[in-house]
Amino acid sequence: MDWEDTYKSKLVSAEEAVSKIKSNDRVVVGHAVGEPSELIDAMVENKESYKNVELVHMVAMGKSEYAKEGMEKYFHVNSIFVGASTREAIAAGRGDFTTCFFYEVPRLFKDGYMPVDVALIQVSKPDKHGYCSFGVSNDYTKPAAECAKLVIAEVNENMPRTMGDSFIHVSDIDYIVKTSHPIIELKPPKIGEVEKSIGKNCASLIEDGSTLQLGIGAIPDAVLLFLKDKKDLGIHSEMISDGVVELVEAGVITNSKKTLHPGKIVVTFLMGTKRLYDFVNDNPMVETYPVDYVNDPTVVMKNSKMISINSCVQVDLMGQVCSESIGMKQISGVGGQVDFVRGASMCRDGKSIIAIPSTAAKGKVSRIVPLLDEGSAVTTSRNDVDYVVTEYGIASLKGKTLKERAKALINIAHPDFRESLIKEFNDRFKCDF
Ligand code: COA
Repeated sequence: MDWEDTYKSKLVSAEEAVSKIKSNDRVVVGHAVGEPSELIDAMVENKESYKNVELVHMVAMGKSEYAKEGMEKYFHVNSIFVGASTREAIAAGRGDFTTCFFYEVPRLFKDGYMPVDVALIQVSKPDKHGYCSFGVSNDYTKPAAECAKLVIAEVNENMPRTMGDSFIHVSDIDYIVKTSHPIIELKPPKIGEVEKSIGKNCASLIEDGSTLQLGIGAIPDAVLLFLKDKKDLGIHSEMISDGVVELVEAGVITNSKKTLHPGKIVVTFLMGTKRLYDFVNDNPMVETYPVDYVNDPTVVMKNSKMISINSCVQVDLMGQVCSESIGMKQISGVGGQVDFVRGASMCRDGKSIIAIPSTAAKGKVSRIVPLLDEGSAVTTSRNDVDYVVTEYGIASLKGKTLKERAKALINIAHPDFRESLIKEFNDRFKCDF
């Protein structure tokens, strides 16, 4: 059979596809904007046939109806990164959270920690050789599909075709559902004055020819605003958003000085608007690879002048960074933060940056605190942390004593909170600030 006949023989409706999922199956769902939303909708529709179907995912960008109250009769949510649509289910005890460095997630699936019964994925149309691209979501989605007992795919004509190690042959898919819905879009965030000051401070640490990892949100986008005068920047990042496209078009991101994959933007997933999806489609400049390659610190370190920029919830005066919980309440996950903090640190001329507004909750609380809130997760340890940046400046913590760290952090805290932090310093270290 040639691949076209194979393809046709696997075409089914979404209803038929999800009827192959059985009670107690573990279903790994395609990541972020790669979520196969028609299949998820069909599963929710078909819920009466299920008991205890475990849905495993990281960032869930869809409606997550399966996480709503009452759905626990049919579904068990197991999130590796809690997001807006799953936070309530986890906090209310209807679901679970599994903590894991992003680069190690494929190991959970491949090495038997969390065997995969079903991979529910969304891919591009097949090319002339019968290969579909994982498009916007390669990350853990491709590894999950490679070890799942059953692979069900939405083949979406709007999924961009990204290059790299990003393909699955139609013969490796069990059931195919043709779809044509738009890929979920993430609108660019609002960038205020605080974010701009943080962006400017971060940009001052970035030399020409650096390779960047940027997280998601207003701060990474603000950093990009201040890079317009830099030369020959490169990207090796967990993800990218629309801001990167602008800098490619402006000739700032050329990737020409990269020591690993020169000339290429390397990412594991994408999240932005149609502008980004059109840019990456069939573009040999952009390569996606599974997350156990892109985020592996020993791979990240092979880039020269590697700079990682991520955000957090709180930093204590020792430099312990909590990025994923507010006290006991899990609000996100470690994601790729530590993968890149470590990769950038292992790179001899690299820098890792934790960039934060000095306050949260509309200025009511300081993010620089004497002690992390009770129950907080330490995401980046004090031994891993390097630079912390706020709108008030830059604290360089590597190689610093506990006193020097505390001083540097207090100097970049919001002025309204400095006095109480200084009092804590004087009591703790038995000396004057
Ligand atoms: N005390 C109380 N509330 C706090 C707080 C604190 N110290 N810090 C943040 N919050 C609140 C904010 O006020 C906000 O509340 P709101 O939704 O009611 O406005 C909410 O928590 C989210 O905080 P914010 O800092 O605005 O979120 P963000 O979208 O910028 O994300 C992280 C920041 C840290 C949560 C996010 O970067 C993350 O999850 N990081 C870990 C993973 C990672 O770094 N991955 C690698 C890159 S993709």
